[in-house]
Formats: sequence, C-alpha cells, structure tokens
Amino acid sequence: MNLNYIIFTFLILSPLVDSYFKTCKGEIKENLLNQEQTSPQEQAFEVLKIKCNTCHATKRKTDIFTKANMDSFAVDIHKQVFVKQKMPKGRKVKLTEEELETLERWLELTLAKK
Ligand code: HEC
Repeated sequence: MNLNYIIFTFLILSPLVDSYFKTCKGEIKENLLNQEQTSPQEQAFEVLKIKCNTCHATKRKTDIFTKANMDSFAVDIHKQVFVKQKMPKGRKVKLTEEELETLERWLELTLAKK
C-alpha cells in the first residue's frame, strides 16, 4: 500500500466518520429532550405500572391502570393512596418519596380539571 493510497482513503472516509459522530450526538440530544418532555401523566403511569399493576393484575383485575383509563381512576387513587393510605396494599410494596411526588403532580393536574 503506498502513502498516496492511504491519504486518499483517509480523505474519502473522514466526512463519513464525521457525520457518523454527528448523528450519534444528535440522537443523544434528542433522547435527553424526550426525557424532559415526558408528561406528568406518563411519569405517574410508570409508577402505577410498577407499583400497582403488578399486584392488581392478580388480586384486583378490575383496576388495571393504563394510560387511557388512569385519569378516570384519579379520584379513587387519590383517596386510596393519600387520604386512607390503604394503597399500595400490604407491607411489601412501598412508594418512595419521589414516586409519591410523581403521583401527586399528576393528581393535582388531573383533579383540577374535574
Ligand atoms: C399487594 C397488592 C396491591 C398493591 C401493591 C396495590 N393494590 Fe390497590 N388493591 C388491591 C386489592 C386486593 C384491592 C381490592 C380492595 C381491597 O382488598 O382493599 C385494591 C383496590 C384498589 C382500589 C379500589 C379501592 C376500592 O376499594 O374502591 C384502588 C383505587 C387501588 N387499589 C389503587 C392502588 C394504587 C394506586 C396502587 C399503587 C400505588 C395499588 N392500588 C397497589 C391490591 C393491591
């Protein structure tokens, strides 16, 4: 392989390598933006999915929360989690401070609309 060939290859490839890295950076930036854009409802749904549905799926099949139905359960969820503090039922599943705040933020917005 002579030197000219190596230089030629380098010149051809460098814009491709450059654009590849730019695309990666763009994707990372987009992911960060998407994260910031998750709505209070979507964040609350993650909590309901992990902390509530896991049990409701077997013990309370009528109340399995989805993004579509969760708003209609807002009054009930508020009552059970914050007023009566019956849910999450049992001693095994606990909500962290952060999860409680996530639910509160969604409930405030949703209940204000009702
Ligand atoms: C370990 C099981 C378990 C977990 C975890 C759990 N639930 Fe429940 N949930 C139940 C059962 C069982 C019922 C049926 C009523 C009862 O037995 O108290 C129920 C009933 C409910 C009801 C209806 C209450 C009524 O009597 O009208 C709501 C609302 C509710 N759960 C919300 C939640 C939310 C929100 C979470 C998560 C933060 C959660 N639950 C976590 C088992 C669970």
